[in-house]
Amino acid sequence: MSISQSPVQLIDHLGREHLRHALGRDVRTGMAATPKWLPPKWFYDEAGSDLFSRITRLPEYYPTRRELAILRRQALDIAVRSGADTLVELGSGTGEKTVLLLDALSARGTLRAYTPVDVDAATLGDAARRFASRYRGLVVRAICADFETHLALLPRTGRRMVAFLGGTVGNLAPEPRGAFLRELRATLCPGDSLLLGADLVKDPRRLVAAYDDAAGVTAAFNRNVLRVINRELGAGFEPEAFEHVALYDERHEWIEMRLRASRAMRVPIPGLGLRVSFAAGEEIRTEISAKFRIGGLRRELTAAGFRMECHYTDPIGDFALVLARV
Ligand code: SAH
Ligand code: AVI
Repeated sequence: MSISQSPVQLIDHLGREHLRHALGRDVRTGMAATPKWLPPKWFYDEAGSDLFSRITRLPEYYPTRRELAILRRQALDIAVRSGADTLVELGSGTGEKTVLLLDALSARGTLRAYTPVDVDAATLGDAARRFASRYRGLVVRAICADFETHLALLPRTGRRMVAFLGGTVGNLAPEPRGAFLRELRATLCPGDSLLLGADLVKDPRRLVAAYDDAAGVTAAFNRNVLRVINRELGAGFEPEAFEHVALYDERHEWIEMRLRASRAMRVPIPGLGLRVSFAAGEEIRTEISAKFRIGGLRRELTAAGFRMECHYTDPIGDFALVLARV
């Protein structure tokens, strides 16, 4: 459904009812599981996106600054190598880093179209309008969609570079990540490329600090998923009765965020006709954030049918941007 036309086209594959239905299905599944879990995409209503933006400015949260540093140095090289005229961005958020890629493509004279894709319609619309006014003649086609289920619906015109920044690929567990990369590969044509941002394995103390900041912003972001469920499904979660937990799983090389019930409770979820029981100390897993090694990224990309052309890291080696081709 096309909501508005030129200069920004906003295409909504989600809609309130669809979202509510998908959230209900995920909450029903996750609350019946042992241990309980919720998918991280439900953090991101407008308030969740604002909290994420605040996270990116925290002293402990290095990934955004590191990825920005890489892009400042390498955006032109990326633009030249990709030869893209169309930038598709998955999980685009506010597009803070995207400007560097669009500037580089624009400087090369190839930039024609930008397609941001995000589940948060409000943040997506704001970013799309901002970009349309910044780049004259740019075709901005913003798509409110779930990159885990709607890849096949993305436009296939132009020579595309798909950017998936921020390390969001690490929020997918290994099996869904493999499926996602294979599906993405299947939507691309010869000449298209993928620019993938990935956070790298490092000292666990720095990792845990990045997900458990002193100001408590990540804790508020984590609890936001309960606020979303309360609003959309009429649930009775008391967010402050859940403690924010961030730990590093050395075996899987990922951060896990959890919400831990501070006491035994029964939470009504009228939208699902459910009452969910929590024992004191019981946890809900709300996010994994996988940390990568270059060799592992190469293996995963190759298994999905990509060829890793090159990779860039920041001087400290905290974060990587990988350019891959089909
Ligand atoms: N790319 C930005 C934002 C990262 S935050 C950056 O690097 O800073 C993750 C973004 O992905 C959020 O904007 C969130 O709304 C979006 N997102 C999370 N899961 C998604 C999904 N399944 N489909 C589409 N967008 C998703
Ligand atoms: C969006 N994503 C890459 C962030 C991350 O680092 O995994 C989400 C986040 N969770 C807690 N802090 C930030």
